[in-house]
Amino acid sequence: MKIFVLKETNSDARVSASPETTKKLVELGLDVNVQNEAGSGSNFSNDSYTANGAKIFNNVSDISSADVVIKVNKPNEDEIANMKEGTILISSLDPYNNKDVIKSLKERGITSFAMELMPRITRAQSMDILSSQSNLAGYKAVIDATYIFNKALPMMMTAAGTIAPAKVMVFGAGVAGLQAIATAKRLGAIVSATDVRMAAKEQVESLGGKFVMVEDDEAEDAETSTGYAKEMSDDFKLKQAKLISDTLASQDIAICTALIPGKKAPRLISREQVNSMKPGSVIIDLAAESGGNCECSKPGETIEENGVIVVGAKNITSTISQDASSLFSKNILNFVNILIDAETKNLEIDWEDEIIKGILITKDKKIMNEEFV
Ligand code: NAI
Repeated sequence: MKIFVLKETNSDARVSASPETTKKLVELGLDVNVQNEAGSGSNFSNDSYTANGAKIFNNVSDISSADVVIKVNKPNEDEIANMKEGTILISSLDPYNNKDVIKSLKERGITSFAMELMPRITRAQSMDILSSQSNLAGYKAVIDATYIFNKALPMMMTAAGTIAPAKVMVFGAGVAGLQAIATAKRLGAIVSATDVRMAAKEQVESLGGKFVMVEDDEAEDAETSTGYAKEMSDDFKLKQAKLISDTLASQDIAICTALIPGKKAPRLISREQVNSMKPGSVIIDLAAESGGNCECSKPGETIEENGVIVVGAKNITSTISQDASSLFSKNILNFVNILIDAETKNLEIDWEDEIIKGILITKDKKIMNEEFV
């Protein structure tokens, strides 16, 4: 069975198979083919793949012989056109925002899986790309903020005077937010965080952060059965905005990570609130590509608003590509593992499996999930 690892065609430095997972895929009985320089952005050379049993291919047309194709990001039209009918595609597909790609995959007869829809169940944790990548994103956001911020984070008592610790506020205490809290704490900052899910309170506090939250009846019911946040009412949003106004003015760094799956990111910081911050303060908006938690952020751009630096982060995990690729590759390997029969080494897919059903997007020239039609 042939698996092809495509090089990303956008500016993403990540890759969907590492030399380490290539070895494991070969051990699973797969014939592994890696596109020329696919791993170079993550410091994985062609030689490191061939040393682990892979072959290198050059042309995208070579994937016409693939049984399975893996990628980090959605395929482009050329890649889709080169896959034969029945090929299995495993990547992130952002299906809420890429209905045209889903349509092309359907028409071409590709069996596609969107890894970001992985159900949040214990058995699927090792395949969860949102968790593995968000964790690194939360860490890197704090590191980037620290680099831009022209003051120190920890308290320092020196003969020349005392430096007060920086104050960091984290918006959204999910996977990225919790790692941002932990990282900012390790760097010595005073950290607070806000979320709409009550469950986040204990997690924030266990990391040494202060939890700032509107506590009303709506907040008791802000979490979906799958663990994600719901969109809140206008009344709740007003209360939350007041609370943020009271807190944000005294903060030095804000890390924005709040998301609602399939919807625009919640708007949590207005331009007026940015203006209330001290000059030199830094906002890193990880939600910029989904509409932004901050009114001023522009995806892929760093702007200055009244002396406050606002970074509209775009694919921050690509800037920590070596670790991001290693973890993404493990997520993919763990998923491929459940598609293959250990004895026959052939594809043996249980279409009734909760994981398979949860992330299957197209099959047999049909879109398998109503939401993406
Ligand atoms: P996410 O990336 O969808 O959202 C990030 C955070 O933003 C969430 O904590 C969410 O509650 C918060 N948020 C949304 N709207 C907000 C608003 N208006 N104001 C403030 N905060 C807002 O979520 P993520 O990080 O993927 O995790 C969601 C939950 O799933 C967490 O409880 C996490 O621990 C859990 N989880 C469970 C896994 C499993 O059981 N296998 C794996 C990974 C995460």
